[in-house]
Amino acid sequence: MADTKKLFIKTYGCQMNVYDSERMAEALGGAGYVETGRPEDADMILLNTCHIREKAAEKVYSELGRYKGLKAANPDLRIGVAGCVAQAEGEEIMRRQPLVDLVVGPQAYHRLPEMEARARAGHKALDTDFPQEDKFEHLTSRPKAARGPTAFLTVQEGCDKFCAFCVVPYTRGAEVSRPVDRILTEARDLVERGVREITLLGQNVNAYHGAGPGGETSLAGLIWALNDIDGLDRIRFTTSHPNDMSDDLIAAHGDCDKLMPYLHLPVQSGSDRILKRMNRAHTRDSYLALIERLRAARPDILISGDFIVGFPEETDADFADTLDLIERVGYGQAFSFKYSPRPGTPAAERPQVAPDVADARLQELQALITRQQRARQDAMVGQTVGVLFEKPGRLPGQMVGKSDHLHAVHVDDCAARPGDLCRVRIVSSGPNSLAGVLA
Ligand code: 5AD
Ligand code: SF4
Repeated sequence: MADTKKLFIKTYGCQMNVYDSERMAEALGGAGYVETGRPEDADMILLNTCHIREKAAEKVYSELGRYKGLKAANPDLRIGVAGCVAQAEGEEIMRRQPLVDLVVGPQAYHRLPEMEARARAGHKALDTDFPQEDKFEHLTSRPKAARGPTAFLTVQEGCDKFCAFCVVPYTRGAEVSRPVDRILTEARDLVERGVREITLLGQNVNAYHGAGPGGETSLAGLIWALNDIDGLDRIRFTTSHPNDMSDDLIAAHGDCDKLMPYLHLPVQSGSDRILKRMNRAHTRDSYLALIERLRAARPDILISGDFIVGFPEETDADFADTLDLIERVGYGQAFSFKYSPRPGTPAAERPQVAPDVADARLQELQALITRQQRARQDAMVGQTVGVLFEKPGRLPGQMVGKSDHLHAVHVDDCAARPGDLCRVRIVSSGPNSLAGVLA
């Protein structure tokens, strides 16, 4: 192998970025890089960025500013920006921050080794194309390193829905599903390396429609195929759109052993007026009816959601509808955000809600959600649940893992090891996790 160089990757944003960072490290592994946790040791620093809200995007520039000294101390250091900010702002990044050598959009990661060589030779390298070839095809070969018990696996990418607030259709491109056989190969490989739980990723994962042996395959079909892999214990998927929650997928939540009783199903707002302005193409009633059908298939399913407050023209009455929807659903987990106007999206041009009004709404909504989350977590006390142990906890002898419902669980004086799936009786509920004993 050529001489070893060190790579420092910092990842922002969603789980897909986490997955992509792993793939980029693999691609650059072939060019002689090993990962380091310290930017000051690195020959190459890569920021894998998020553009979903303004704050997320701004972090990139402040982080880059911090690397000035490193570059002065080590002229051979190369700095790259990947991810959704790279896609959205491309050349602007190089203009604003001249120390950046390389800019690569999410659909061009397989070209990184070439780009790295160009950057090493002293040229600027930029690639924000949406090429036709499958980047994953080029990114999966590599030495078989051992893995922890959980892994992400991207099965679908991009989005054709164009919600009025969202940059994803512009940064990740049109919806594309990977073929079933490639996903199964990757999943088997992960299991061989120690993975017990796979979370299937896609911006619209339940719209998955990949080519399979019997023709086009739905997400439910893919899950059933994964269910047959020996040694794989758990399957999850995220993120779903209410309109793509097909009958076979709802049924799988009742019938498929390895599919966990947890569903992240963002609704964004509980007001039909706002949903329409958001271009969500569903109503509050259709969402509530869907939740009922899911609960009929799997009564203990834990529902998680995303909410945006302060969307343009949101009134107090609209916001009250959102609180009411939350009361009706009873979320086990939820994420909420103040609307952030994104350049190039339709809603950015509309009359904005005053920031103090949006702040107050966000606080009220988060208080309600925290109460619901806590109630759902507290209700686990006394129950016996499956826990996949991931790593030792902070106290000696303690192990931590996740329950079937994705609650964090810790067990003191625990004989289990990372990767063990055990029955655990829950004995108490704290602010951030459940305490249990092996059953
Ligand atoms: N402003 C605030 N939140 C947003 N999200 C997406 N776009 C925006 C935006 N412009 C939220 C949505 C989505 C989650 C990933 O981020 O709730 O589901
Ligand atoms: Fe951020 Fe969305 Fe891009 Fe993920 S897909 S990195 S959350 S903008």
